[in-house]
Amino acid sequence: NTIYLKDYQPPAFFIEQIDLSFDLFDSHTLVESRLQLRRNPQREAEPLVLDGEQLELLSLQLDDRPLAAEEYRVGATSLTIDQVPDSFELKCRVRILPQQNTALEGLYQSGSMFCTQCEAEGFRRITYFLDRPDVMSRFTTSITAKRSAYPVLLSNGNLVAEELLEDGRHRVRWEDPFPKPCYLFALVAGDLRDIRDSYTTASGREVDLRIYVEPENIDKCEHAMRSLKNAMRWDEQHYGREYDLDIYMIVAVNDFNMGAMENKGLNVFNSKYVLARPDTATDQDFQGIEGVIAHEYFHNWTGNRITCRDWFQLSLKEGLTVFRDQEFSADMGSRGVKRIEDVRLLRAHQFAEDAGPMAHPVRPDSYIEINNFYTVTVYEKGAEVVRMQAHLLGPEGYRKATDLYFERHDGQAVTTDDFVKCMEDASGRHLEQFRHWYRYAGTPVLEVDESYDAASQRYSLTISQHCPDTPGQRNKPPFHIPVAIGLLDAQGNDLPLQLAGEVAPVGTQRVLELRDQIETFHFVGIPERPVPSLLRGGSAPVKLEMALSDPVLMFRMAHDSDGFNRWDAAQLLAQRLILKMVEQRAAGAQMEVPAGFIDAFRQTLVSADEDQALLAQVLSLPAEGYLGDQMEEVDVEGVHAARERLRQQLAESLHDELVALVEANREQGEYRIEPADIGRRSLRNLALHYLMAAGSEQALQLCLAQYQAGHNMTDVLAALALLAASDAPQRTEALADFESRWRDDPLVMDKWFAVQAMAPRADTLETVQGLMSHPVFSMRNPNKVRGLIGTFCGANPIQFHRADGAGYRFLADRVLELDPLNPQVAARLLRLMSCWRRYDGARQALMKGQFERVLQQPGLSRDLFEIAEKSLEAG
Ligand code: ARG
Ligand code: ZN
Repeated sequence: NTIYLKDYQPPAFFIEQIDLSFDLFDSHTLVESRLQLRRNPQREAEPLVLDGEQLELLSLQLDDRPLAAEEYRVGATSLTIDQVPDSFELKCRVRILPQQNTALEGLYQSGSMFCTQCEAEGFRRITYFLDRPDVMSRFTTSITAKRSAYPVLLSNGNLVAEELLEDGRHRVRWEDPFPKPCYLFALVAGDLRDIRDSYTTASGREVDLRIYVEPENIDKCEHAMRSLKNAMRWDEQHYGREYDLDIYMIVAVNDFNMGAMENKGLNVFNSKYVLARPDTATDQDFQGIEGVIAHEYFHNWTGNRITCRDWFQLSLKEGLTVFRDQEFSADMGSRGVKRIEDVRLLRAHQFAEDAGPMAHPVRPDSYIEINNFYTVTVYEKGAEVVRMQAHLLGPEGYRKATDLYFERHDGQAVTTDDFVKCMEDASGRHLEQFRHWYRYAGTPVLEVDESYDAASQRYSLTISQHCPDTPGQRNKPPFHIPVAIGLLDAQGNDLPLQLAGEVAPVGTQRVLELRDQIETFHFVGIPERPVPSLLRGGSAPVKLEMALSDPVLMFRMAHDSDGFNRWDAAQLLAQRLILKMVEQRAAGAQMEVPAGFIDAFRQTLVSADEDQALLAQVLSLPAEGYLGDQMEEVDVEGVHAARERLRQQLAESLHDELVALVEANREQGEYRIEPADIGRRSLRNLALHYLMAAGSEQALQLCLAQYQAGHNMTDVLAALALLAASDAPQRTEALADFESRWRDDPLVMDKWFAVQAMAPRADTLETVQGLMSHPVFSMRNPNKVRGLIGTFCGANPIQFHRADGAGYRFLADRVLELDPLNPQVAARLLRLMSCWRRYDGARQALMKGQFERVLQQPGLSRDLFEIAEKSLEAG
């Protein structure tokens, strides 16, 4: 049951038109479809095989002739009709049960509304169809439902008819003029309110913009609407892309497996990525909304107008669209900080995926369940791969190349290769070797040696590359890697860069293109030994190994003109120190924090008028999970103890400076989501985070005061999380206070669950188990599952990896409980344990035992089977 890219075949039939009508009832839904089919002339005469799952077939007619039972076969996942003409109409009626759909794929009920999620293969749970992205059809949709309960009935495209029926029901008809694959189909029905706005495109089209939400959320939509308009403008300015329908709708639903979905003209969103008010949402939430609203909007061109030939090409739309949303967010906020956040996420999650048993290329070769391939590799590494091409082509070259892509492939279902071809054709560059980034999994490692010859003023860098073996892929050829570089003099100025053989320097920052396994670059006219600054801006998703002394890193942390590399130097410095402390601890020695580190930290802390958001990034310690990834074998307790010890030492040594920083940056005035305000809050909350490690009364009072001031959710939650992680007597009271205030707001309650699940306290697992019986918690709501269980297993390493294995058993229990309800979410949870081989023997055995237990479960979903099986199998 593995599907391979190499087996791709064009469809045997095309479906030019589909007319759907839905009749929604309290117990079931009737779906009638009329398909206009045409045989693909490229293929032999063969039967028609349509996809369909969990459908009750009521009737079937071919060109108005009812089919007799012996003329077709209904399987568990298909409908086969042996004899069909080359061109015909198929009419089909089925009954489906959205009320019982807990997998949240296809048509389902969320609260009192109906909605759909069809990507990747949910449409086959609505009606029989060729459920594959290279079959593009024109859709019309009529929806009939009781008017009092479902006054709002939505689908893709334009509303063309509305009628009141006699029995208290009403009917609407929508028409989408753009042919689309069925994964972009959407339907929504409910008692919804909306906010409206309008947007005039560059060429003068008036677009009606609407955000639909449940009535109580109508005051939380403004930020989403503003983000949408910003995204529309940005896509016109940066890619020359305009919106193409007269209406653009967004609907927020509470039960949703992922972030959001780009259905043509009718995006369906996890309410987490729509709803925000300063008192209910954090800065991070506001930024998440801006990014996801833009992401789905950008899909209208990169995904909908040009879609994927097959699901192996998923990164064609996702990698490109993530790159687009990252750049949009960079333009809306603080570019440098956005880049750091994106690389931090990539290194923490994608590098780990690439080093584990689920490693796969940006364009995978095979899958069992496609839902398991909506990964950080396909999305975030895919975005890095597009970013590198943009970098190699330069701004003008990249714009020419994307213009060509839109012109050449509009209306088509294409491959990542087609995309790269456009990059090549528009620029004249050869990117054959670059395609390895799509073909091979694993994070390449660069080893760098430097040498300086004072007599000839020549500085040389020798860079070799290798990529580790990954499941099914060994001995990979070298990659084409852009390495952005600068060289700093002793004052921290960038030196002019001239390579041997060049007549003059070419700027102070340039891109070295690696292609061979080992290459040397000679810089001439370098008057003193420089400090190298490599991979500026995170120019390639690789690991860098270079023997740089601590003083050199401290120098770069203070002086690198590339803000990203200041952060990177600080991270590496902290990482080295913490891992050294872990070794000291393991050897039974004292953990030492050198005075030099504290001084470097102090200097950065007090560098007054700096970009505060960048400062907060530079001063954040690497996460425990990431630190563990850097070890031969993860020392769970050691990493936690060392990191906490360092945090405490910094807090004690810099107590006064940190207090001063908190006091100088109090919130005053109105809440604004401007980069400077976000920077101020993040730096203050980081200082508070350090201070709480000092355990001083003053720190606790500052934290309580911030909680009580209740200025905005960012600050309230930062304080609450610190209290929840502490042993302060006020802890329980603060948690109870927050609960009583926010009990009726599901999204805020998700945060309340998460801060408790994150606490590195010995009783956290028991707390989490207890919270599962909280009236607001539900295993059927993915946000709740992620907030409580996902946070505990994914963001609390010291408690999840308890030596007694209770955390692992808890995860397996939850996964098995969830699998019959929602396999997609269950599989995502189980992934949190897939790097089990990185731990000590005792923990390995405990985790392995849980994977085996999962595999023994009868009736396991394909989703869960694939994760458990692959986690165990790869060495
Ligand atoms: N295309 C959506 C996005 O914007 C994600 C949908 C994923 N859905 C799924 N069931 N795997 O990224
Ligand atoms: Zn997407």
